[in-house]
Parts: sequence; structure tokens; C-alpha cells
Amino acid sequence: GVLLSNLASTCVLLLACCAAVRWYIRDSYKIGGFSQKHVFITGCDSGFGNLLARQLDQKGFRVIGGCLTEKGAKDLAAATSPRLKTTLLDVTDSASIRSAVEFVSREVEDRGLWGLVNNAGRSVPIGPTQWMQLEDFTKVLDVNLIGVIDVTLQFLPLLKKAKGRVVNVASIAGRLSLTGGGYCLSKWGVEAFSDSLRRDMHPFGIKVSIIEPGFFKTGVTNVDLINADLRRLWTRLPQEIKDSYKATFLDNYMRMQGFSMNILCSPDISKVTWCMEHALTAQYPRTRYGAGWDAKFFWIPLSYLPSFVSDFVVNMFLPSPKDTRND
Ligand SMILES: NC(=O)c1ccc[n+]([C@@H]2O[C@H](COP(=O)([O-])OP(=O)(O)OC[C@H]3O[C@@H](n4cnc5c(N)ncnc54)[C@H](OP(=O)(O)O)[C@@H]3O)[C@@H](O)[C@H]2O)c1
Repeated sequence: GVLLSNLASTCVLLLACCAAVRWYIRDSYKIGGFSQKHVFITGCDSGFGNLLARQLDQKGFRVIGGCLTEKGAKDLAAATSPRLKTTLLDVTDSASIRSAVEFVSREVEDRGLWGLVNNAGRSVPIGPTQWMQLEDFTKVLDVNLIGVIDVTLQFLPLLKKAKGRVVNVASIAGRLSLTGGGYCLSKWGVEAFSDSLRRDMHPFGIKVSIIEPGFFKTGVTNVDLINADLRRLWTRLPQEIKDSYKATFLDNYMRMQGFSMNILCSPDISKVTWCMEHALTAQYPRTRYGAGWDAKFFWIPLSYLPSFVSDFVVNMFLPSPKDTRND
């Protein structure tokens, strides 16, 4: 009996090892011909988008960087090879997207677009739900969700031509709602949009990958910007709502948020661009990429636990608005 069960568990272990080895080998197969492949990236002024543009340019890809500002475009062009092109793009403006599509279609000629990376995003306003007005939600949703949808729809014909790839930057905040405001909503939306896009476009040869970064030091996690905006939200609140919060709440909130962000945010943003590059260069791109140790081993596993557990853990990062949590 013991011998048989030992044999069975050895077989299971061996099978699991074989499956893991097969997965690693399959995961490492690469495509070639980068010099004939065009990739368009949104939000290239800074952060992940900027690093990805430079990284893919070095690999020999034909990168077209969508930048929100003239300065962002100029700086990116100065830091890269003449192969890389830039174009101005505000993802909240359909006409601006249309002219980016025209620019890209002139660049790609009849090859079509190999890669679209929906990376542009913003986090502010972000904070307690009752401090928000509707327009605070839409400011973020317009960029992070409606922008992603508009850009994708307008680029699909070019992507279809190349049987290309869409890489959408969601977040662990698309798996676990960490704070109020439009940010987490937008990222949940990106997850859902990407899932339906993947299924709908699979028959046409278009592959869709979702990047789920943990916390990284960039513009969207800039605590000074987030706190300055929190102060704006607080200041305009009616006295009656202010009175329902502990007098020290705003200061404690900003202090604890600053403290946690400082600990949580990794400066190594190449972990994220590695995932984006894999999604664009692997023969078998993954559907989801958890980027960063915190995403892989903390936030994503936490998102599978019962809500009372995730509520408890998420609450630990921010102060209670009242003296006791339950009154
Ligand atoms: N950093 C993190 O911890 C983290 C975690 C998960 C997911 N993400 C996501 O990763 C993506 C890239 O962000 P990042 O961390 O690299 O921060 P980032 O440096 O702020 O990059 C975002 C870029 O998008 C640009 N942008 C903002 N609004 C835009 C618009 N309407 N049209 C076009 N571009 C616009 C920003 O320009 P301006 O700076 O000029 O506004 C900025 O260059 C975002 O989708 C973000 O939500 C970040």
C-alpha cells in the first residue's frame, strides 16, 4: 500500500515537472523579423511607455511612440535611433487618435501594425469615495478605459492586417479595488475589455495580453501629486462631511499612504517592460502577466481570497476615518 502511494506521488510530481519544463520551453520561443515589425505605444512621455519605446528601439523594432506632449516626443526622439518615430496623441480625443492612426498607417504601409500597447494612464483623482464628484471619476475613466477602447477600435483594422498583438496595461488594482475614485474601476474595465477582445479577435489571428503590474515608482504613484489632489478634494468638501471624519484623518491618510507607497513601489520598472516585450516577441504570448514580486505573490493571490480577508488587509494600509471602525 505504502509502496503504491509513493509510486503514485512520484508519478504526479514527475508529470508536474514535465508540464513546468514544457511550459518554460514553450514560453521562451521567440518570433523574428523585428526590423519589419511596427509597434505603437501610447503614453510614451514617461514611465513604462517611455522605457518600452527605448527598449524595443534597441531591439530593432520600428517603434512609433504616442506622446501627450511636444516635450515628451522631443526627448524620446533625442534618446533613440532615427528608426523611432513619435506622434502626438491624447487618448481622450477621438480626432487625435484618428490622426495617430493616419500617421501609423503611412509608416506601416501595407504591412499592418504588429503591436499596439495601450499604456497611457493617470491615477489622480484617487482617494475616499465620498470625497469625489462624478467628474473626478470620469477624468480617470476617460483616459484609462474609454481611451483604451477608442484607441483599440481605431487601430484594429491595421492590427488585423498584420495579425498583430494588443498589449493592455491593467494593474493589480484591476483585480483588487484598493481605493476609491476612477482608477480601480478603469483597470477592472480594462481587464473585462481585454478578455472579450481576446476571444473576439482570436479567430482573426490577433493576440491580446494583459499586464498587471504591482507598485512601481512612476508618475501614477507620485505621492506628492496624489496628496496635493487629496487636499483639493478635502478642501471643497461641505463642512458636514468633513465633520464626519476624525480631525486628524487627512494628515494620517497622507502620512500612511506616503509610508506604504515608499515601501511598496519598486524602482525597477524594467520588470514591467520585460512583460510587455515578452507579449510582443514571444511565439506564445501569455494572456496575463503579473509584473513585480508584490503582484505575483501578494496582491494577485490576495484577490482570490474571501472579501473579508482582502478587506482586512487593504484596510491595514490606510487609517480609519473614525475612532472605531464599526460605529
Ligand atoms: N506605476 C505603477 O505602479 C503602475 C501599476 C499598475 C499599472 N500602472 C499603469 O501603467 C501605465 C503607465 O503608467 P506609468 O506607471 O508608467 O506612469 P506615468 O509615468 O505617469 O506614465 C503614464 C503616461 O501616460 C500619459 N498620459 C496621461 N494622460 C494621457 C492622455 N490623455 N493621452 C495620452 N497619454 C496620457 C502621461 O503623460 P503625463 O505624465 O504628461 O500626464 C504619462 O506619460 C498606466 O496605465 C498605469 O495606470 C502603473
